[in-house]
Amino acid sequence: MEFDRFADDYAHILDRTVSASGEDSSYFAEYKALYLQRLLGPSFRGKVLDFGCGVGLLSRYLRKHLPSARIDGFDVSQDSIAKIDPALSTQGVFTSAWNDLARDYALIVVANVMHHIPPEQRSGVIQDLADRLERGGLLSIFEHNAANPVTRWVVGRCPFDEDAILLSPRETAGRLAAAGLRLKRRDYIVFMPAFLAWLRPLESSLRWLPLGAQYVTLAVKHV
Ligand SMILES: C[S@@+](CC[C@H](N)C(=O)[O-])C[C@H]1O[C@@H](n2cnc3c(N)ncnc32)[C@H](O)[C@@H]1O
Repeated sequence: MEFDRFADDYAHILDRTVSASGEDSSYFAEYKALYLQRLLGPSFRGKVLDFGCGVGLLSRYLRKHLPSARIDGFDVSQDSIAKIDPALSTQGVFTSAWNDLARDYALIVVANVMHHIPPEQRSGVIQDLADRLERGGLLSIFEHNAANPVTRWVVGRCPFDEDAILLSPRETAGRLAAAGLRLKRRDYIVFMPAFLAWLRPLESSLRWLPLGAQYVTLAVKHV
């Protein structure tokens, strides 16, 4: 609900916050969608939940890069859900009501949401998400990498990260395993700012290096 007050201006605030990278909020949203497209293939047809979808920045790129999938979204901020583009809300369910969601998602994406959830509630949320996956379904958690000093600086000046408590990759992996999910991979992502864009083709070979601005942990529900 905290994010209701940012719903009108979410993308602009984020654009300002990440401007030191030389990129805007769209770059980071599309990066995540492209990462998932590479993993799943562009013809992936499953049902996808964007958990903590906010105003739908990432959902828009999930729709673009996984065009055969159905994209649903959930967020506790009703004002953010009200801003969802009709192109999204006519093809999937975008809601603040947990019971409106399906129970057979092939992929659940949780992008920069867990650090807003108090640590004592995180395992319960991950368990609820695991319960919404189909067998063989994937849960992917994108998070800020606190080991990267630029990330810590950006989080420190982001107006909607005042409540943020960052999670280490170890904490994320532990909570996923505790929910009965099998860890599949953990990749560090987003290394090069815009002025080093010519080096970006190397980023996929750096995914082991714990210096990316963000990381993603993927876990699968047992078949
Ligand atoms: C930093 S925004 C990220 C939005 C989007 N995932 C993205 O990557 O652009 C965090 C979002 O998480 C939502 N959120 C926070 N706690 C939540 C919870 N317990 N359940 C669902 N959404 C939550 C907020 O309302 C907000 O929209």
